Amino acid sequence: MRARAEELRRLLNRAAHAYYVLDAPELEDAVYDRLYRELEQLERLQPGLISPDSPTQRVGGAPAEGFQSVRHRIGLLSLDNAFSTEELEAWYGRLLKVLDRPGPSGDDLPALPMVGELKIDGNALALSYERGLLVRAATRGDGESGEEITANVRTIQSVPLRLLLENPPPWVEVRGEALIPDHTFAAINAERAERGEALFANPRNACAGTLRQLDPAVVAARRLDFFAYTLHLPDAWTPASGAADPARPLSQWQSLQWLAAAGFRVNPNAALCPDLAAVEAFFAAWEHKRRQLPYATDGVVVKLDDLRLQADAGFTQKAPRWAIALKYAAEEAPSRLLRLVAQVGRTGVITPVAEFEPVGLAGTSVSRATLHNADRLAELDLHAGDTIVVRKAGEIIPEVVRVLAELRPPGAAPLQLPSSCPECGSELVREEGEAATRCVNSSCPAILRGTLRHWVSKGAMDVDGLGAKLVEQLVDRGLVRSIADLYRLDAALLASLERMGEKSAANLVDALEASKQQAWHRQLHGLGIHHVGAVNAKVLAKGFPSAAELYAAAQQTPERLTALHGIGSEIAQSLQQWFATPSNQGLLDQLKQLGFSMAAGEGELAASANSSAEATGIDGREVLAGRTFVLTGTLPSLSRSQAQALIEAAGGKVTGSVSKKTSYLVAGEEAGSKLAKAESLGVPVLDEAELRALLASGP
Ligand code: IVH
Repeated sequence: MRARAEELRRLLNRAAHAYYVLDAPELEDAVYDRLYRELEQLERLQPGLISPDSPTQRVGGAPAEGFQSVRHRIGLLSLDNAFSTEELEAWYGRLLKVLDRPGPSGDDLPALPMVGELKIDGNALALSYERGLLVRAATRGDGESGEEITANVRTIQSVPLRLLLENPPPWVEVRGEALIPDHTFAAINAERAERGEALFANPRNACAGTLRQLDPAVVAARRLDFFAYTLHLPDAWTPASGAADPARPLSQWQSLQWLAAAGFRVNPNAALCPDLAAVEAFFAAWEHKRRQLPYATDGVVVKLDDLRLQADAGFTQKAPRWAIALKYAAEEAPSRLLRLVAQVGRTGVITPVAEFEPVGLAGTSVSRATLHNADRLAELDLHAGDTIVVRKAGEIIPEVVRVLAELRPPGAAPLQLPSSCPECGSELVREEGEAATRCVNSSCPAILRGTLRHWVSKGAMDVDGLGAKLVEQLVDRGLVRSIADLYRLDAALLASLERMGEKSAANLVDALEASKQQAWHRQLHGLGIHHVGAVNAKVLAKGFPSAAELYAAAQQTPERLTALHGIGSEIAQSLQQWFATPSNQGLLDQLKQLGFSMAAGEGELAASANSSAEATGIDGREVLAGRTFVLTGTLPSLSRSQAQALIEAAGGKVTGSVSKKTSYLVAGEEAGSKLAKAESLGVPVLDEAELRALLASGP
């Protein structure tokens, strides 16, 4: 029985390592479960068989009363930060000096190999192994002593209970970062919201809170992960000769390999950099890529590779001289709300926008951020003078993440959207079941400005020289009341406007004239019909080579519209409404009089005949060739089959399940396990708008 128990233990531990650390399962779940239960039963019959490295001992023991403070065998240091590559270079210069390797005069510094590692935004842990067995795990605490949380850490499947070494050292100290993956974090908060409990602010806080849970069963349910990054071994210890164990590491790079060989999960995104330029390239390469990772990172940790040189360089008061944390620009910052404004979009949709004291975020100064819609505004419960947290992640539009209600001035008034349009004064409308609040006055100047800007935009008429400021002047002075009016402007009048000259006025008139030759699908797109973006316009223009034919179909045979790839009843309805509106009919007539075809030209007809058999993207290119997509959840405007049709029309493939080979997951509302899986595999996730952008531009 003892031998069987030992065999089972070894097999199950190996399978867990393959599953949780290597991401390469080697046992079927059901087989694992059976064998696990067999081991449990053996241990129940004969408790003497239980060993501390048995997989059954990961969740065990009663909830603790509290945590003991323990002194670390080797202190946990913190790191100095660098916020720019200049600061990194200054650090490197100091390091060379301490090591007595001053550079030659000139620009070339002597090259020292360094390891670049992602700085994981989790919680540092200290793990102690004795003769290969995990005997203690502790939080960082003040660096000298922390709290003993062994029972909790034992539940982390990627922490080995026994090192995978034949002849383990008498003791080993391992440092690394515990974390909660983003998708697990979202699930935890969703559950907490359901139970009416306070939400965790971010995955790091959730992780810290979990590690200090008194009940290990709760910790087990939260599924933490752990990446090991530092190794301490007894001085002068070397592995016994003859064993298959890895040699004693002489560098940080070798330490990472040693840790992986001993059974730890080591972050795969580390790089051995021959010189400072390589470190900077590593930092730059991860600035955007890191957003695809399923966990948070906030910089790169740079470590001198050679352990002997590390020892030579030594420490300052609190941090090693041989390492530094190079941080990415902050993407979130607090600011003071100045006012709430209602912005009127091209379609009349009202977007609440917060204006606040300017803050530097991800390299730019930000003073406005969207609040999306009235629901979000209500959820944030914004009050005058509130302190808000603003985020600008990458290229994304700045948004207000939350309000720090604790800092609210006493007696502050709650803020709401106005009930009338700030531009034209007409009453705003919110239809039942719709998130959007709208101004429905078609002659609202804000709507007109948006309509004109859309008409001349790149994807539509592509007219240069008609920017926001000029459009504003034209509308405010009553010079332009519709798209058609743009084509009645004369150069002399334009030249008299602010910031215009004769040359720019003449150029603009020419550009407008030239735009009359734009393709039919661009004309259609430019009209700004609700739901008819660049992609749909292209599909519709191909199916209906003139406005007249499209009009007729929309009124009489909408099923001919919905028979097209990607065109659903919502779009058909929107077209029908648009054509039925007299002012729109008038616009079409005027545009035709001005020289617009409102139909496909001969060239376009020929091209579409040639290509109709072959699937093409928006510009007739197979922009998604070779890409595999998975769809999940409910998209805001596309049905599953429409999204699939669009992807396929652009040369992409749609499959049913997420794997490492999936190029993108397109996720809508109520996305479930596919989203979690994509995040865990680092597969990029797109929403509908991003999918459309991809279709429009290509990857
Ligand atoms: S090395 C002396 N490596 O960052 C070495 N730390 O700001 C100190 N961290 O307390 C740690 N990823 O919690 C190291 N790859 C990494 C890291 C990392 C995240 C954390 C760690 C540390 C903090 C210092």
